[in-house]
This record gives sequence, C-alpha cells and structure tokens, in this order.
Amino acid sequence: MSNIQDKVVIITGASSGIGEATAKELASKGAKLVLAARREDRLKKLQVEIQSSGGQAIYKVTDVTSRQQVEELAAYALKEFGKIDVLVNNSGIMPQAFLSENKVDEWDKMIDVNIKGVLYAIAAILPSMRERKSGHVINLSSVAGHNIYPGGTVYCGTKFAVRAISEGLRQEEAMSGTNIRVTNISPGAVTSELLETTTDSTMKAGLDEFYKVAIDADRIARAIAFAIEQPSDVGINEMIIRPTVQVG
Ligand SMILES: NC(=O)c1ccc[n+]([C@@H]2O[C@H](COP(=O)([O-])OP(=O)(O)OC[C@H]3O[C@@H](n4cnc5c(N)ncnc54)[C@H](OP(=O)(O)O)[C@@H]3O)[C@@H](O)[C@H]2O)c1
Repeated sequence: MSNIQDKVVIITGASSGIGEATAKELASKGAKLVLAARREDRLKKLQVEIQSSGGQAIYKVTDVTSRQQVEELAAYALKEFGKIDVLVNNSGIMPQAFLSENKVDEWDKMIDVNIKGVLYAIAAILPSMRERKSGHVINLSSVAGHNIYPGGTVYCGTKFAVRAISEGLRQEEAMSGTNIRVTNISPGAVTSELLETTTDSTMKAGLDEFYKVAIDADRIARAIAFAIEQPSDVGINEMIIRPTVQVG
C-alpha cells in the first residue's frame, strides 16, 4: 500500500498549476485532499474531477493572506477528516519588475502571499501535528530561492525566505522529536498561470521567452508524491527540479 493512502493533505493554491497537478497526483494515490485557494469555481471543478475518478477531496475557499481564513481551513480539515498529515504550502505569486519601477504594492502582495501566507499555514497546522507527533510540511520555494537575478529581487527574497523557513522548521522539529518532516521544493520553469501575475510588460516578455523550456506541473507533483511516499523516518529536505535544458 502506498504511504500516501488515506493521508489527509491540505494543498494551498490548488486552483491551478502545481497545486492542481499535485492534487490529482495525490488523489490517484489515495490521499484525502483539502483543496484551498480563492477561486471557488476552480476548486469545485477540481473536486468533481477527483471524485469522478474515485478520489476523495473537499475544498475551502481561502485567501492565505488572512490568518483567520487559514486557521479556518485547518479547522475544517480537522473537523472533516480528524487529522492533518501533510501541508503542501504552495500558494504564490510572481509579479516581477526592476526595483526602480517602484511597484511597492506588488512587493507588499508578494510578501503577504509568499511569506506571510506560508507562515500562517504553518502556524495553523503545527499544533495538531505536534500533538500527534506526526506530520509533513512541504513548502514551495523556487530556483529563485537559490539564485538572484535582475527584476526578480523581491520574488527571490520571498523564495529565499521560504527556504529559510523550511530549514529552520526542520531543525526545530528535529530537535523537539516531533517526527514532523519538512521538504523544500525548488522548481525551475514550470507551465502554470504564474507568469500572468507579472504586470511589467518588459519583464513579462523576457519571462515568456525563458519559459519556452518549461516543464509540465505534473513533474513537480511527482516529486511531491515521492517525498510523501518515503518511510516516516526519512525526510526528503530539499529538491531542485529544473527542465533538463534550463541553464540558470
Ligand atoms: N511555475 C513555476 O515556474 C514555478 C517555479 C518555481 C516556484 N513556483 C512556485 O510554485 C507555487 C505554485 O505556483 P504555480 O506555478 O502553480 O502558479 P499558479 O498556476 O499561478 O498557481 C498559484 C496558486 O496560488 C494561489 N494563490 C494566489 N494568491 C493566493 C492567495 N492570496 N490566497 C490563496 N491562494 C492564492 C492561486 O489560486 P487563486 O488565485 O484561486 O487564489 C493558484 O492556485 C508558487 O509558490 C510559485 O512561486 C512556481
């Protein structure tokens, strides 16, 4: 039996891209999914698709920038399924531009979704995982959490932060003996709706060119499944997954 069977998995940002692909992959391996994002029509459609293939999924409309909504998401998972085994902390946006463009509102949004949203989700699920002495937190960082490039400064900053949060959480849980595993996933270029969050036309044109080599989101979903599938005494802590032909 797969080590994913019957695991309760919350996925933030499940309405498209990597989150949606991960939901489908884990559903096919018997997980009980709690899908979260802001677009209810997408979540409903995905739930129906998963259920009609014999999988299990519920959803809750959630804006991860609202601490209250994220707490309600965790409470809903516990009420419906009685436990939370895995958090796939995946919601993210990437409005890239040079700092000189002064898109301060976009910096705020990136920090709110990519950093604070990730932390709110960890805060919401950690108490129940610690109580059960079992759990797995999977954070979506990026190659941009390892490399810095012009125009990506704030996005890179948020993804470096996610990587720091992953490693800090890993160390703290390891020293506390809670058996909570932490996986930091750093994708390269992946086909999704992420580029649509870049409003700067020059930057968007460059990204469109760079993303010509992008791989499908199900490649990342498979890596996430691999991390979950390992025996509970094994933590896959860091994965960088680029298209084979991606240079930077
Ligand atoms: N695609 C890539 O090349 C790539 C590379 C490296 C890392 N990543 C990371 O992978 C993660 C998933 O991105 P993706 O590529 O799958 O992009 P995507 O297709 O745009 O998906 C992003 C998801 O985040 C959700 N989201 C955005 N703002 C939110 C909010 N305030 N509250 C809740 N959910 C929110 C979106 O749902 P709603 O709009 O419905 O809320 C959507 O489901 C992100 O963290 C991204 O930074 C992606």
